[in-house]
Amino acid sequence: MFKKLKNCHNTNDFRLLAKQNLPSPIFHYIDGAADDEKTYVQNTQAFDRCDLVPSVLNSVSNIDTSTQILGKKIDIPIFLSPTALQRLFHHDGERAVGEAAQDFNTYFGISSLATVSIEEVGKKFTCPKMFQLYVHKDKALNEDMLQKCIDHDFDALAITVDTIVGGNRERDLRTGFTSPPKLTLSSLFSFAMSPKWTMNYLGREKFSLPQLDSHLNEGTKIAMSIGDYFTKMLDQELNWKKIEEIKKHWAKPLCLKGIMSVDDAKKAIDVGATAIMISNHGGRQLDGSRSPFDQLEEIVDAVSGKIEIICDGGIRRGTHVLKALSLGANACSGGRFYLYSLAGAGSNGVKRALNLMHDEIVRDMKLMGCSSISELSRKNLRFR
Ligand code: LAC
Repeated sequence: MFKKLKNCHNTNDFRLLAKQNLPSPIFHYIDGAADDEKTYVQNTQAFDRCDLVPSVLNSVSNIDTSTQILGKKIDIPIFLSPTALQRLFHHDGERAVGEAAQDFNTYFGISSLATVSIEEVGKKFTCPKMFQLYVHKDKALNEDMLQKCIDHDFDALAITVDTIVGGNRERDLRTGFTSPPKLTLSSLFSFAMSPKWTMNYLGREKFSLPQLDSHLNEGTKIAMSIGDYFTKMLDQELNWKKIEEIKKHWAKPLCLKGIMSVDDAKKAIDVGATAIMISNHGGRQLDGSRSPFDQLEEIVDAVSGKIEIICDGGIRRGTHVLKALSLGANACSGGRFYLYSLAGAGSNGVKRALNLMHDEIVRDMKLMGCSSISELSRKNLRFR
């Protein structure tokens, strides 16, 4: 049976809608992860290892879901992690996602591999904006991206630190997914099965990666898998010293995306980062890595108050957000939870996903007896 947006009530519904709309190589690029995808599954399952303990009779008619992160007040405690290639998922891409982020006044992240330019996003959206930097071997490219973020008033820079080589994404190997998408004999069939997507892809603004276009051919003119792109194009000599160097040129809040250990969280403080995103890249890099939620407690215990902590990955429900905040995260973020809805229905889809998430958070806070985020604490959480 065909799924419709109005029948989508949770992330899994959006996932099915995305699956229905997209050619299979593109759907599996979003949906897939590394090796056996165990970490990807764990990222969500980890939230089931503890339970919320509600408090009642607390007058909860007015709920404040806002929080402060990376120098900005956001109205919901979850934001949209930067993700690549969005115009492949829906022809409006980052434009649709930015519109939804703006409606909910939350951080909107765009990737180095975004399909809309830093300039356009900077001019178009007034919500808090994050730019995600892949540190490339090409130094001029890194400098160019950084300068554009300064010129166009981005609010935060997130340097991804867990992509030193490409993860082994076997679904992409099987489907032959590349950027830009390649028409092969086997993929032809899947494109033919998604005529609406194919018409939009061929008939609308040409696919491009504007941040990279004037520096590289890989990913735009030369088709390449994302795994190979990371391995060939990114700087494998990236280290703490180089992060310090970048920090010198970036006066606004800096975030390191992909921190998983206490030691690295401490080093992030030493290099002057404002925040860390505890993240394993949605299970797309090191399969067998722990989940962000499982690592949250020890990182909070070691560094809370000295650096902001964002729990990134696996979040599908308002209760997941509440559990992470109760444990001590300052905010949460995620990719797939809004990408499926983007692929499913463009900006209306992302708005519906954010609306559902917002409503879940409000309902769950009321049921927990909490009027503001600051009232959530470990007192209302038990591990089994
Ligand atoms: C990914 C990158 C591009 O595919 O974030 O995981």
